[in-house]
Amino acid sequence: MDKPLIVVDLWKSFNEKTVLKGINIELRRNEFYGLLGPNGAGKTTLLRIIVGVLKPTKGKVIVNGIDLSRNPIEAKKLIGYVPQENILSPYLTGLENLLYYAGLQGIPRSDAKKRARELLEFFGLEEYANVKVAKYSGGMKKKLSIAAGIIHDPPLLILDEPTTGLDPASRRNLWDLLSRLNREGKTIIMATHYTEEAEKLCHRVAIINDGVLVVEGNPLELKKKYGPPNIIELYLSSSMEELTPRLSRYSIGKVVQVDEKVLVPVEDYRSILPKIIEEVVGLGLGIRRIEIREPTLEDVFIKLTGRRLE
Ligand SMILES: Nc1ncnc2c1ncn2[C@@H]1O[C@H](COP(=O)(O)OP(=O)(O)OP(=O)(O)O)[C@@H](O)[C@H]1O
Ligand SMILES: [Mg+2]
Repeated sequence: MDKPLIVVDLWKSFNEKTVLKGINIELRRNEFYGLLGPNGAGKTTLLRIIVGVLKPTKGKVIVNGIDLSRNPIEAKKLIGYVPQENILSPYLTGLENLLYYAGLQGIPRSDAKKRARELLEFFGLEEYANVKVAKYSGGMKKKLSIAAGIIHDPPLLILDEPTTGLDPASRRNLWDLLSRLNREGKTIIMATHYTEEAEKLCHRVAIINDGVLVVEGNPLELKKKYGPPNIIELYLSSSMEELTPRLSRYSIGKVVQVDEKVLVPVEDYRSILPKIIEEVVGLGLGIRRIEIREPTLEDVFIKLTGRRLE
């Protein structure tokens, strides 16, 4: 059976600037796949090429065996796209917005109404069906945007930062709904810069930095392979540049200092923590709090790129 999506050696330049540098991806059927990367990594550019709104400088996109550049109309029928920016009309109601997008997909009116009702129910928006979108909260707008994106029931769903800007409760609610869509049969590719989101939802994650796919894999496996056993997080009374080289001696990876917070990846915190405290106190710094935690995908990102994600 054909793969839901194959991206082959994709390159994209804008004028002189190359923002995608040979990306290869193969999605498995029914997979939830994440693109994790910082601002400007190239995630949106990649997704726009996959949905056919942007042409690559080089490379191919194949959707369920169909070459997007040769047969864009057929390929696009298989894709639902929810862009980063808002696509809804505030002057229309939720239902009217969905019917509008159904019209763009060529769905007959009576089928469209039925489908729209089902989606409004799935997303818990039935009561707001006849309310103008201008009155919707951020979370409700996002849910309606996703409903609009899948109005034609495509097997492949493309999400660009679906929860950015949402409060924690709306975010969790959306995570549940996205998981359900995936369990009920949609293959999903999602750009995010939230490690928690990627870890929670994705079967596989690709770490993207500066237009390059640095590594891909299951979140747990990536953490095991690239993450340190423990991270010591120090919250200090003030920051100090000299601290980083001093602590690097005890660390098995890059020590990262952000304002008063210092992250030290270590092999075994029990033997190392006393020495670290001694160094910090020796420099005359106060310690407000110490946390010891397991690695996250952010630590994997730091290890592989030398930079922070957020
Ligand atoms: N139309 C364009 N013309 C010129 N440069 C562009 C254009 N679109 C994107 N870029 C540049 O390409 C790079 C990648 O941008 P892109 O929006 O794909 O990143 P991103 O990973 O989605 O970032 P974010 O997390 O901020 O959404 C950026 O440096 C951006 O300035
Ligand atoms: Mg983006």
